[in-house]
Amino acid sequence: MNHIEQLSSNVLEAVREPSPEALAICEKGDYPAIRKELEDKGLFAAEVERVKAKCLTADEKHNLKEAEFLTEKDWQILTVIELYDAVTFDHSLETYHIAKEKIEKELDNGVVISNLIKEEGVSLETFYRSCLMHDVGKISIPKFILNNKADVEISHRSRLKDLLTADQIAKLLEIDPAGKFSLEKTIAEAMQVHESESKRYLEGEGYNREAFLASTHHNYGRVRIEEMRFPVSHTTLHISDKISTLLRLADMESAMRQKARPYKDDMGKVKTLYHLVEDLKADMDRGLIDPMVTELWISDEYKIRHSERVKHGHGASVEEQAEFDMMIGKIEQFIKEQKGKNEK
Ligand SMILES: [Fe+2]
Ligand SMILES: [Fe+2]
Repeated sequence: MNHIEQLSSNVLEAVREPSPEALAICEKGDYPAIRKELEDKGLFAAEVERVKAKCLTADEKHNLKEAEFLTEKDWQILTVIELYDAVTFDHSLETYHIAKEKIEKELDNGVVISNLIKEEGVSLETFYRSCLMHDVGKISIPKFILNNKADVEISHRSRLKDLLTADQIAKLLEIDPAGKFSLEKTIAEAMQVHESESKRYLEGEGYNREAFLASTHHNYGRVRIEEMRFPVSHTTLHISDKISTLLRLADMESAMRQKARPYKDDMGKVKTLYHLVEDLKADMDRGLIDPMVTELWISDEYKIRHSERVKHGHGASVEEQAEFDMMIGKIEQFIKEQKGKNEK
């Protein structure tokens, strides 16, 4: 029986709903302060048990039954993410499952990425923990920014001072005395703050490697892959750039699946992959992601979608079929070109 299964059924019964007080505390925008207040008020243990129970009974995409490496500290972080924002919590779990599945399976040429990681002496726990916690910094982003539905154009052009209400601005100044969110920032720029906040919180918890990986999961700082080496290390952990790319890909894949929901038809799945490939091309040209891992990943995703397409058939219109074929063609071309480059 593992640590989660030891929960008694009456504890599960008692903690099914989050407490309103705990929910309010998680709006405070700073992880150490939230953790301290939840502890001081005696609310944390029950919430952590509730989240453990939830993850034990969740569907396969959100289940953490096999994540036996999670410590109490990890569960506390996950609990605060869950209390703060359900979408971020689901995305964090999905990122972990997507990444885990990909690194454990046999890819092209018999490559199993988890073996590469282990050969380099990096524990899989570090990577998995990074997947689960890469977005913990989102608890620093006020809800009215995090859940802002402004379209891409507005989010990139308009400044917070023009978009927020007077009440929201007052609230922002209250929870952000250090001024991380200048009112001159756009929503897109304000959202970027979460990457460095994830790093700060994970370092604060003593997770330096996880913090490092989280700090490049969008790579807003445009760190080139050759500079991606774990800090404070005696060993040559050359796998860190590959792990970083893996986290990035799993994160993008999950984010795209969330955007494309319901993610069920073949067209949606191919479109998602096509857009992923388009985004990755630019990153690849700038040297921001590892080409080998990216090729293995895309090639595997392509195979999965292609086999599903053959299995299901497709009753598409002529236009849809043409779009479908165009996207498949571009994906195939990308894989072919990358394979050629990587084999050199
Ligand atoms: Fe993120
Ligand atoms: Fe993410």
